Amino acid sequence: MSGGPRTVVLVSGDGSNLQAILDQAGRGALDITLAGVISDRPGVRALERATNALVPAVVVNYAAPGGREGIATRLTETLHELRADLVILAGFMRILPGALVEEYRGRMLNVHPSLLPHYPGLQTYRRALQAGDREHGATVHFVIPELDAGPGIIQYRVPVRAGDTVDSLRARVRRGEHQIYPRAIAWLAAGRLALRDGVVLLDGERLSTPVVVNEEPASPVK
Ligand code: GRF
Repeated sequence: MSGGPRTVVLVSGDGSNLQAILDQAGRGALDITLAGVISDRPGVRALERATNALVPAVVVNYAAPGGREGIATRLTETLHELRADLVILAGFMRILPGALVEEYRGRMLNVHPSLLPHYPGLQTYRRALQAGDREHGATVHFVIPELDAGPGIIQYRVPVRAGDTVDSLRARVRRGEHQIYPRAIAWLAAGRLALRDGVVLLDGERLSTPVVVNEEPASPVK
């Protein structure tokens, strides 16, 4: 689990995407050095997952006194102390300081549970179901100052099935995130993926739309 760029994962909750990254790195399929995991709150499962994988787990507690500026400074300092080359947002529920986003432009990724540009923000499953959408999914994108607006790299698409609920859709999309996120991180870590003047390059070619991975059709029940 070492050799590649020093990678710090930012989390707020369960950390299932973090687990997918840890698993891929652990089996040598993702050439990164996991330099640390930062949570905005104590006691979350993601911190346990980091500790179990012997990755430094750090809390930058947003509930601590110090105000917005103080927290922003602490987060930035922590990333610097961990000597992060890449920053991976995996369910991190906070807006990042603008200067930090600028500093890591082209080296910071996020996974968002919708087919961006549809449904930036929260409650994406509910919104897609209410709109009667026929498909939903997740997008890995470069982070830019505007929320959930950075250029897309790879998308996982699932058909919305009759009877789908927020929970069923979330479960299927989440499984897809676990496939596409480590893949995008591997491209970035290997220097195959870049952001130049707002344009995504994969293997030197302009990516005008994200790479699409479709959910495998469910195998028939016998
Ligand atoms: C994922 O759905 C991701 O798309 C969103 O936050 C969720 C994080 O889940 N940004 P987990 O903590 O990785 O399980």
